[in-house]
Amino acid sequence: MLTILMEIRKSQDYGVLLLEITKMLEADLDAVVALEASVFTLPWSRPLFLKDIKENKCARFFTAKEGDKLLGYGGFWLLQDEMNIVNIAVSPDHRQKGVGKLLLKHLLSEGMKEGAKFATLDVRVNNTAARKLYESAGFIFIALRKKYYTDNQEDAIVMWLNPIKL
Ligand SMILES: CC(C)(COP(=O)(O)OP(=O)(O)OC[C@H]1O[C@@H](n2cnc3c(N)ncnc32)[C@H](O)[C@@H]1OP(=O)(O)O)[C@@H](O)C(=O)NCCC(=O)NCCS
Repeated sequence: MLTILMEIRKSQDYGVLLLEITKMLEADLDAVVALEASVFTLPWSRPLFLKDIKENKCARFFTAKEGDKLLGYGGFWLLQDEMNIVNIAVSPDHRQKGVGKLLLKHLLSEGMKEGAKFATLDVRVNNTAARKLYESAGFIFIALRKKYYTDNQEDAIVMWLNPIKL
C-alpha cells in the first residue's frame, strides 16, 4: 500500500489529505462504479471492472482513498512493454488538488516496475482537464482517431509517454 500525506495547495480548503493508493478490490466496486457512472458518458459497467480485476491478467487497477472514502481510481493494461492507461477519474469534490497526478504517477510507477517502457492512452479532444493532466506528466500527441467516441462522434487524441519518466 502506498500512503501519501498530501498537502492541498490548489483548493480553497487548504489542509492535508491522507491518501492511500491500493490495488482495487471487489469491495471497492460499488463506489468505483458510482463514480464512473457520474463522470463518463460511456461508463464501464460493474461486470467489466469485475472481469478486469479478477480475470484479466494484463489489467492493473488502483484506488485512491482517504479512509473509506473513494477519491479516485485508475487502471492500465500491460501489453508487453506498453502500458495502456484505460481510465482515471477523480471525484468532482476532490479535483484540482493533485489527486489525479498522484494516481497517474502511481500507475506509471507500477507499469515501470513490471517492465513497461512506454505508456499510451486515448483522450477526448474536448477533455481539457484530462489533456492538461497528461501533458503535465509529459505525454505528447501522437495520433487522432476521428469520431472515435460513439456517443457524440468526438475525436480521440492518442498520446504517449516514451520513455516513461516519473
Ligand atoms: C482528469 C482528472 C482525472 C484530473 O484529476 P485532478 O485530480 O483534478 O487533477 P490534478 O489536480 O492532479 O491536476 C493535474 C494537472 O492538470 C491540470 N488540470 C486539472 N484539472 C484541470 C482543469 N479543469 N482545467 C485545466 N487544467 C486542469 C492541473 O492544473 C494540473 O496541472 P499542473 O501539474 O501543471 O499543475 C479529473 O478532472 C477527472 O476525473 N475528470 C473526469 C474523468 C476523466 O475525464 N478522466 C480522463 C479520461 S481520459
